[in-house]
Amino acid sequence: MNILIGSSEVQPFSKTGGLADMVAALGKFLGRAGVRVRLVTPLYRGLIERHPEIRRTDRVVRVSIGGREEKAAIYEWEASENYTIEFIDHVHYFQRSGIYGERNEDYSDNAERFLFLTRVLLALSLESDWTPDLVHIHDWPLGLYPVLLRDVVARGKARRVPKTLCTIHNLAYQGIFPPDELALTGLDASYFTPSGIEYYGKLNFLKAGIVYADHVSTVSPAYADEILTSEYGCGLEGVLVGRERSLSGILNGVDYTEWNTTSSNPHLKFAYTANRPGGKMREKKRLQHDLGLPVEGKVPLFGMISRLVEQKGVALLGEALEQALNHRIQFVCLGSGDPELEAVLQTLEQRFPDRVRVKIGYDVTLSHRIEAGSDFYLMPSRFEPCGLNQMYSLRYGTIPIVHAAGGLRDSVVDSNEDNARATGIKFEAFNSAALLEAIYRARRIYKRVELFRAYRTRGMAADFSWERTAKAYLDLYRRVLEEGPAANP
Ligand code: ADP
Ligand code: GLC
Repeated sequence: MNILIGSSEVQPFSKTGGLADMVAALGKFLGRAGVRVRLVTPLYRGLIERHPEIRRTDRVVRVSIGGREEKAAIYEWEASENYTIEFIDHVHYFQRSGIYGERNEDYSDNAERFLFLTRVLLALSLESDWTPDLVHIHDWPLGLYPVLLRDVVARGKARRVPKTLCTIHNLAYQGIFPPDELALTGLDASYFTPSGIEYYGKLNFLKAGIVYADHVSTVSPAYADEILTSEYGCGLEGVLVGRERSLSGILNGVDYTEWNTTSSNPHLKFAYTANRPGGKMREKKRLQHDLGLPVEGKVPLFGMISRLVEQKGVALLGEALEQALNHRIQFVCLGSGDPELEAVLQTLEQRFPDRVRVKIGYDVTLSHRIEAGSDFYLMPSRFEPCGLNQMYSLRYGTIPIVHAAGGLRDSVVDSNEDNARATGIKFEAFNSAALLEAIYRARRIYKRVELFRAYRTRGMAADFSWERTAKAYLDLYRRVLEEGPAANP
């Protein structure tokens, strides 16, 4: 089977969030399962310098953007068995310091930039000698692919038509643009209707993916249900209900070759296992020491690593910690994003200098060290399509405290659900009192050494390996390939 993936991010080359981890692992584990995978992604600034393994090919793709011809040079890297990444070079569109924008502001030509990427994906899927059976696109940046494909087919210009799968990683980001950007796409006005790519008078890239793909998926079973409701559907719930029969939820996995606590992890100094947890205490003390917190093994340490955006429940966390920090606990946070939310956390640090450390920035090594050095991991997201850090936490023996939403609901077991299998703490109501109560529950568990150890041991044994996720995608691809032509518009 040949699968062509399109994504605006892929680890370790470009990343703003979990999309990059997910897509990189998808390619790698599908490849291992015998699928031939090509992944198309932009050649962002600095990639060639940082990754000399990326080679220029002599292939050039020409596409039309708003009637103008734009050229892409193709770079390539054989990532692993059966898995090649194709980097799309266009100096004006991609040689910038950000992926979607800079200093919290989106680039004003994002519609054009990602339309270009999508057009190149289309050209590669139809014209090269390597023909994909299915094209798997991720999130709004590639959302127009299925409709552009449909248009080519309608005009009788495609010989072999791949199937399409659109995976939604986060419905809060839809790629909504002014209607005049339609002219760039080359699509005629017949597509610009409420049952097509129009959304309240604007052009909506993700909606295009949802409406026109053969199948739609999202990154956890719970989120697949939630997005059918007005509470989580971000205005697209009606469209999603219309596609309910072709909508699946597949939980992301963890690439345990990267996220583990063995001596092969270059970010950690001390290895540990559930049976030999001594290294975890050393990582805790090393973290406290290096961050300038009192080195106290017996004080419960709560960690968090996150994009600091509304979704992640940062405001709620600020309110709850304001209370909880009157008790002997420590809180360490790494993240960046919305300046107001950064300020919420920095205020906590000023108010509780002996108990709180906030690092504003992006730091992979520190993220592993916080996962390893913490006793509990806070993830009070208002909604969470999948979430990766709660699963990383489980493997690192760090008990997750999560709002019961989306993938957090699917990956953490609370004692109220199953006492013998509990791996973490879930709170249902999205308010600071419920979160505070969850933090107090954590303290009570921490004090009961045997119970705390039982949570930790079960969490470390939990298995979210990518082999299983890749198999679920493979089954889904087979199902989509067996289905006849789609019945939607
Ligand atoms: P989202 O994609 O919504 O941001 P996920 O939990 O799926 O949430 O994935 C977040 C990923 O980004 C994780 O791999 C996490 O470790 C990483 N991450 C987020 N913020 C930072 C940061 N400041 N430094 C390092 N890694 C970060
Ligand atoms: C998105 C979601 C996150 C998910 C990630 C990878 O960024 O916010 O929950 O884990 O995509 O699928």
